[in-house]
Amino acid sequence: MNDVNILVLVSGNGTNLQALIDAERGGRFRGGKEHSGGRIAAVISDRPARALDRAEEAGIPAYTEMPRLSLEPAERRRELSDRILGIARRMDAELIVLAGFLSILEGDIIKTYEGKIINIHPSLLPKFGGKGMYGERVHRAVIEAGEKESGCTVHIVDAGTDTGPVILRRKVPVLDGDSPAALAGRIHDEEHIAITDAVAVMLRRLKK
Ligand code: GAR
Repeated sequence: MNDVNILVLVSGNGTNLQALIDAERGGRFRGGKEHSGGRIAAVISDRPARALDRAEEAGIPAYTEMPRLSLEPAERRRELSDRILGIARRMDAELIVLAGFLSILEGDIIKTYEGKIINIHPSLLPKFGGKGMYGERVHRAVIEAGEKESGCTVHIVDAGTDTGPVILRRKVPVLDGDSPAALAGRIHDEEHIAITDAVAVMLRRLKK
């Protein structure tokens, strides 16, 4: 069976992308009789990012698609989403992974890739998700709310923000005196396992 082409979208450091690259190299996404394998076929960032260097070091084609700041926010999101859809179509992507991608996808890409876009979010969704909830803000909100546990969620992307069906979650305790950075670090370790497991789950679901 043919490998599924995976498109990974990033905005930052790219440790989740790195986890996926390492997993692919370790044979984690290899296909079998029952399902196809997967290969990271391209990476797109919406800003200059360390993640692009990681892609390049791994020999994966990497693109920077910066939103045009002259546009209104809604139009900007739509235009960026359409450009990403164009690349996804050209490379024949069958799975899109948002691995720390901080723009919001809108419009045709959501319909065209229904059930085939996944996102990792650093909280136990539906808690602490939605527009504006990313990075340190999430962890600060979790600590301020006095939560005893947090973690990460990988879910299918739908037309909402952080609202689609959950594929899996991983939990960590929130410790007394935790700083947002300390909590983020603990969650990051779990994210790397979660995103890899979720891609493996999707490859099984997308069997060709
Ligand atoms: C991760 O913690 C991811 O969950 C978060 O961005 C970070 C990216 O880290 N995503 C969001 O907040 C999306 N709403 P990385 O660049 O090292 O993979």
